[in-house]
Amino acid sequence: MDFIDTISELNKYMLPDNNLVVEALRNVKDPNTGKDIISSRMVEDLRVDAHNISFSVLLKTNDSKLKSALNFACMEEIGKIYPDSEVHIHLKIKPEDAISNDSILPQVKNVIAIASGKGGVGKSTISVNLAVSLAEMGHSVGLIDADLYGPSIPTMMGLVGERPKIELLYGKHKIIPLQAHGVHVISVGFIVEPEQAVVLRGPRLGGLLRQFLQDCLWPDLDFLIIDLPPGTGDIQLTLVQTVPVTGAIIVTTPQEVSVIDAVKAMNMFLLPNINVPILGVVENMSWFTPEELPENKYYIFGKGGGKKLASIANSTILGQIPIVQSVREGGDSGNPVSTQKENSLKSIFNEIASNTIKQLNLRHELYAPTRIVKVENS
Ligand SMILES: Nc1ncnc2c1ncn2[C@@H]1O[C@H](COP(=O)(O)OP(=O)(O)OP(=O)(O)O)[C@@H](O)[C@H]1O
Ligand SMILES: [Mg+2]
Repeated sequence: MDFIDTISELNKYMLPDNNLVVEALRNVKDPNTGKDIISSRMVEDLRVDAHNISFSVLLKTNDSKLKSALNFACMEEIGKIYPDSEVHIHLKIKPEDAISNDSILPQVKNVIAIASGKGGVGKSTISVNLAVSLAEMGHSVGLIDADLYGPSIPTMMGLVGERPKIELLYGKHKIIPLQAHGVHVISVGFIVEPEQAVVLRGPRLGGLLRQFLQDCLWPDLDFLIIDLPPGTGDIQLTLVQTVPVTGAIIVTTPQEVSVIDAVKAMNMFLLPNINVPILGVVENMSWFTPEELPENKYYIFGKGGGKKLASIANSTILGQIPIVQSVREGGDSGNPVSTQKENSLKSIFNEIASNTIKQLNLRHELYAPTRIVKVENS
């Protein structure tokens, strides 16, 4: 007779204990997050009365397969310790209103979108280095490559050719994000070959991003960084309709045309019905510094674009990054500069990470939590 059998044998003669029921239910997982249903606050109205145990389990979707799988899992866990008790489980769907204010990612504290107007200004480079810097500071960090037609994160994080594991949780397939440089990462590049990604269009793109948000088993995260494609397209809209984005970081070069396009991208986040605060601006490619002449600065793309954008945004500059060969090489080799101890760029990214945290704290003090954008059915 093993330990569980001994407990269940003894418990036959004892009345069920609330605490032991709670402990048993900790072995049942929330199908969304993989976390247990007790810490996910899905269990309500637990009553233990003589040999009757009753409680409700709150669900977000009315999925009959999932309901019966969860019902069975709860019964099984309680049956292990109190085989003779009568268990009554009420599976309740949360009211629509309660859900709309609820994140589908309750385990994620901050969702940060990295956006720009123009392509090629350094969003992915900044996403990767910001994620690595935050992780090195001891935070738990996730990174979603939302540039579904041109995923560059697998290369930049040194994860080319890797495939994420899939776990079956109560009949649903869940993707386990990969890990590199202390960051949890997902990209379409892990699922299809890069040259196949370009054929994905419209609704399928939105579906993929939703899957990255809903169907990945993200651990508890302090920050989830979303590397967006340039501009204001379907992916940006799907993002704000799926999760509450805590804030956006806008990337520009100092050049006037980059700033003009960045303003358009920024304005999308500021639309009254979207209402995502701007955390700040990162000016990339601010000047060129040859590695052998670190004191020299050549302002190839002009000056002042970041400052101008920050003042239009009523926000701040989080940092300025020079053009340095090792930034490009770090990206191409999967060893971002922020992982390289002697690299002078590392301190710039650390500063951007600290400034981002400062701005996030300010954002939480000044503004109400972001709400998911509701889609009107017309
Ligand atoms: N500060 C920098 N110094 C040197 N090279 C840089 C710097 N920033 C970015 N690069 C390089 O410029 C190229 C474009 O950068 P990146 O891919 O980060 O831009 P992006 O805005 O994400 O582009 P896209 O719009 O295509 O997604 C990359 O090859 C990257 O390594
Ligand atoms: Mg990119």
